Amino acid sequence: MASPTAPTPSKQPSGLQGVTAGDSSLSKVFGEEGRLIYRGFQIEPLAEQATFEECVHLLWYDRLPTPAELDALRADLAAAQSIPAEVWTVLRPMVGKASLMDLLRTGVSAMSAWDEDVAATRDTDAETRAELNLRIAKRLMARIGPLVAGLYRLGRGEAVIEPRADLSMAGNFLAMVRGSAPQAEEERIFDAALTLHADHGFNASTFAARVTAATEADIYAAITSAIGTLGGRLHGGANMRVMHMLEKIGELDRVVPFVDEILAQPGGRVMGFGHRVYKVEDPRATVLRRMAQSLTSATGNSKWFDISRKLEDHVKEKKGLFPNVDFYSASVYGSLGLDPEIFTPIFAVSRASGWLAHVMEQHADNRLIRPRANYIGQTDREFTPMDAR
Ligand code: COA
Repeated sequence: MASPTAPTPSKQPSGLQGVTAGDSSLSKVFGEEGRLIYRGFQIEPLAEQATFEECVHLLWYDRLPTPAELDALRADLAAAQSIPAEVWTVLRPMVGKASLMDLLRTGVSAMSAWDEDVAATRDTDAETRAELNLRIAKRLMARIGPLVAGLYRLGRGEAVIEPRADLSMAGNFLAMVRGSAPQAEEERIFDAALTLHADHGFNASTFAARVTAATEADIYAAITSAIGTLGGRLHGGANMRVMHMLEKIGELDRVVPFVDEILAQPGGRVMGFGHRVYKVEDPRATVLRRMAQSLTSATGNSKWFDISRKLEDHVKEKKGLFPNVDFYSASVYGSLGLDPEIFTPIFAVSRASGWLAHVMEQHADNRLIRPRANYIGQTDREFTPMDAR
């Protein structure tokens, strides 16, 4: 017979699967169709025909920019991209001790101390906060790429390269990381990869940002929560692990035994496959596959792409799983000569645009997010004083 304190199992699926947690007009994932839209627009033309800056404008202002609006946004971002020297002073002692994602999380948190608008957002009316939030969002968006690039270079014992005002966000990022401006095709593909990662419904990091924002905490607090959440291997941390996996496999003929060994382990996961919402191929993976192939032709180095293709076929055959966004972003970034350590921080640079849009959307029509737990512990236990235990 069940004791009076026996737990009642939750009727909800675990991990909030399938639960709708709020309204948003930013992006929609059509899991059954393999389709993703930002503000009503399909992601494919946005990735292939628009720039990342246009995508940021679309997410923040709910419309594609005119040429003048795009120039204005670019000018605001370029004017704000220099990181206060004090932030580097805070971060330098941590370099080499913490991962790049941990440094990024701390760096974003530290930047709030040198943002003259942030304190004023905490106890004010909605209109003033919206105005200040947009200013802070531009500042944070402008600085997150230079922050990642600078931390990466410091970690390698190299000097930080200052951002340039004449380059796109994608071109600037590659120039700051690699030391010279990229080829036009490299810039175009990296720009598209940024657009493809910009927003994705209530994914874990975005939801974390919204939960934090819904307490009326400031933007820096929300983005710091989001970065911490993105780092895990089941979320943004997967892309780096995909590259490590490709490196470990090394040769085409090692793909099958490598995958079989993972799948033979209980709970074994092949990084870059499967998705909570998509039941068919992730549409971002489709675009990134094309880009990985195109980079392969441009660079003449098809190693990562060939291994990825074979891996994809084998995982599909054995488990019926499709690649997700992290799978082909790894070979794209690898072919651009980027180090796996910087892959997840790149995801953060892109997703910051979506996180910021969500925080502004949350603040514009806010209610505290506070669900209940299904308590499965004991109840009615007798307290025993210390000397009687
Ligand atoms: N490799 C091997 N098996 C996988 C898998 C993977 N990458 N992803 C899912 N599966 C299997 C699970 O083992 C499980 O099988 P079972 O029913 O036989 O136990 C089934 O598929 C369902 O998986 P589940 O963990 O319940 O799905 P989820 O919705 O909780 O997880 C992810 C979604 C993304 C966390 C999961 O697919 C995963 O861990 N992928 C690898 C990490 C990754 O690429 N993350 C980036 C996401 S964009």
